[in-house]
Amino acid sequence: MPRAELAARTAAVLHRGRARNPDVLLVESEAGRIVVKDFAPRGPVVRALLGRWLTRREMRVYRRLAGQRAVPRLLGRVDALAFAVEYRPGRRMSRRLAGQIAPGFIDRLAAAVREMHACGVFHLDLRHRSNVLVDDAGDPVLIDFASALMVPRRGIVAAIAARLLARFDDAAVEKWRQRVEPGTATGASTASSGARRGASRPT
Ligand SMILES: Nc1ncnc2c1ncn2[C@@H]1O[C@H](COP(=O)(O)OP(=O)(O)OP(=O)(O)O)[C@@H](O)[C@H]1O
Ligand SMILES: [Mg+2]
Repeated sequence: MPRAELAARTAAVLHRGRARNPDVLLVESEAGRIVVKDFAPRGPVVRALLGRWLTRREMRVYRRLAGQRAVPRLLGRVDALAFAVEYRPGRRMSRRLAGQIAPGFIDRLAAAVREMHACGVFHLDLRHRSNVLVDDAGDPVLIDFASALMVPRRGIVAAIAARLLARFDDAAVEKWRQRVEPGTATGASTASSGARRGASRPT
């Protein structure tokens, strides 16, 4: 979608960015609703440097995750300061969803996170409730890869880094498990996490 059409096609501002964050826009495209992350409204320094860098970086992460069910599809760049992804409506994660989300949600979230890790992507901000959504089918959607790290898929150093980084995301999944499925211990499905394994099990 050309930049010139963006304003006219914007149906809603999902999130108004502050000094260093993009505006997140819900946009009507010919193919339906899409989401555009746009740094253009920010100040000159962010536009010249950080905004460009973050746009390129987050697009690269989305490209590496292409095909994963829990991750919105990258639709392409608008220009150097904005890119578009598939709109995946859903509710933000929160303690209030306890008892309302489909059974097994956290296990599906853990599986999605494992799939992401298998691609060498570590989200690192999954604790933030705005970055994990529950879609209408009760499945997890992972968004906002602005602070994600990618490691090469080969090599011993990368493998060690991956193990360490994975712990952050796994701990976030366990946090959500405690919040929305209170009383459930870490299951076999998160056996790779290790971080809190056995913590709540009787001996
Ligand atoms: N693909 C999407 N489908 C549906 N809603 C989305 C999508 N992307 C973003 N949103 C909504 O917009 C909000 C903000 O998006 P996002 O977390 O990517 O931006 P941000 O936190 O402002 O960005 P950043 O952390 O990169 O500065 C999300 O919490 C979510 O409600
Ligand atoms: Mg966010």
